[in-house]
Amino acid sequence: MIAKAPRGTVDLLGSEAEAWLRIQQVAIDVFSRYGYRLVKTPIFEQQQVFVRGIGQDTDVVGKEMFHVLSKNAFEKVSAGGELKSDQKLSLRPEGTAGTIRCAIEHNLIPQGGPTVKLMYAGPMFRCERPQKGRLREFNQIGIECLGAADPSTDAEIIIMLLKFYEELGLPLESTRLLLNSMGDDACRPAYRETIKQYILDHSDELCEECNHRAHTNPLRAFDCKNPECAKVMDGAPKISDALCDDCRDHYAKVKAYLDGAGVEYIEDSRLVRGLDYYTRTVFELQVIDGLGSQNAIGGGGRYDKLMEVMGGPSTPGIGFALGFERTLLALEAAGIGFELGSDTDVYIACIDDDCKACGFKIMQSLRDAKIRADMDHQGRSLKSQFKQAGKMAASYVVVVGPDELAAGEVTVRCMDTHEEERCAIDEVAELVASRMR
Ligand code: HAM
Repeated sequence: MIAKAPRGTVDLLGSEAEAWLRIQQVAIDVFSRYGYRLVKTPIFEQQQVFVRGIGQDTDVVGKEMFHVLSKNAFEKVSAGGELKSDQKLSLRPEGTAGTIRCAIEHNLIPQGGPTVKLMYAGPMFRCERPQKGRLREFNQIGIECLGAADPSTDAEIIIMLLKFYEELGLPLESTRLLLNSMGDDACRPAYRETIKQYILDHSDELCEECNHRAHTNPLRAFDCKNPECAKVMDGAPKISDALCDDCRDHYAKVKAYLDGAGVEYIEDSRLVRGLDYYTRTVFELQVIDGLGSQNAIGGGGRYDKLMEVMGGPSTPGIGFALGFERTLLALEAAGIGFELGSDTDVYIACIDDDCKACGFKIMQSLRDAKIRADMDHQGRSLKSQFKQAGKMAASYVVVVGPDELAAGEVTVRCMDTHEEERCAIDEVAELVASRMR
C-alpha cells in the first residue's frame, strides 16, 4: 500500500512551500519593526499547559487536541494504568499557551521591566473536521506582547496585523475587522450568568450542544455554527451593555486609537473567540468573499489573567495569530499568486565525461561565491543537459568542453540573450557574479 498524507494535513510543494517562507519573511520584517523577537517553543507540551491556559471547556481542548504517547506511556495506558501529569503530552493546538509557559519558565518578564514582545511561526494541530481552510495540521504566525495593559497596545497590534497584510499585498478592502470587548473578572461573571439564563429560557430553540454549554461555558453558545442557534443568540443581551466602567473605558480608548489611525472596524458583540483566556479586547480579521465559513485569517485579543492562571507573576498580555493556509487562500481569492523562482542561477553542461571533474570544480567555486549552481549527475547528453538548464530556469550555462579545456577556458552562455563569451576556468565565478549584478 502506498501511504498518503493523513486526513486534514497537506504537503506544501513548490510555490506553496516558497509562499510559507515569503509570508514568514514579511511577518518577521514587519513585526521586528515593532520590536518583536523570535521565540521557538516545542511542538508538544504537557497537556496541563493547554488545559490550564486555553480552558477545559473549549472545543480546542475538550474535543480537538491530539495527544502524544511515548512507547512506554502507550503500554502503560493500554494496560489500564494512569499516566503522571508530566507524561501526559499533547501537540500544541495554538501558540499562546506554550509561549506563556516559556516566558514563565525562563523568567522573561522581570517585574517592572519593559514590555516583552515575542513572535513565533510553525505548525499547530487541531483534530477538527477537515474542510476548505480548516486543517488538522496548519501553520500559524503569532505574536505575544507581555507586560503592557494600556489600550494603545491593543490598537498597536491590530494596526501591525493590518500592516502585515498590506505589505503582503492583500487588499484590505477584501477584509473586515471585527472588534469586541469581553470584559474582565469584574463584569464577565455576571454577564455569563445572564447568558446562562438566556440559554435556559430559550432551551427549546437551541441545539443540544448550546444547552450543554449553558452549564459549562455559556458564552461559547455565541460561536455555535447552527443558523437557528445563531438567530436566537442574536437576541441575547450584549456584553457591550454589561461592561464595568474600567472595561468600558479601556474599550473606548482602543476604539479612539483605531479611529485616530483611520482603521475601520465593525463592533461585533457576538465575537467571543474560541479560547477561554481572553479578557477585554478581542478581534478577528475576516475575508469578505471566497473563503466560505472558514473566513477568519487572523485573530487575537487581550489575556490579562493568563500568566497568573499558568503559575506566573500577574502580567497583562495581548497577542494574535494568523493562519498561513487561510492567508494563502485569501491571496488566491484576491488573484495574488506566488511565482516559483528559478531552481538555479548557473547550470554546468559538460560535453563529455572527461570534462566532468573540471565542471564539478567550477560548480563548487560558484557555490562558494554564493551563486546557486548545479550540474548533471545522471550521464545525460549535452542536449538533455541544456534542456535541464531550461527547466531549472538557469540564467547562465557554463559549457565545459575538451577544446576549451585545452586552452584553460570554458564558455559562459547567457540563457536570455544567447550571448556567449569565453572565460578562464578560475574566473567563472567572478564573471558570472559581475554579470548577475
Ligand atoms: P485562533 O483564532 O484559534 O487564535 O487561530 C488563529 C488563526 O489560525 C485563525 O484566524 C485561522 O486563520 C488559523 N486557524 C485556526 N484553526 C485553523 C485550522 N483548523 N485550519 C487552518 N487554519 C486555522 C489562536 O490560535 C490564538 N492563539 C491567537 C492569539 C495569540 N490570541 C492571543 N495571542
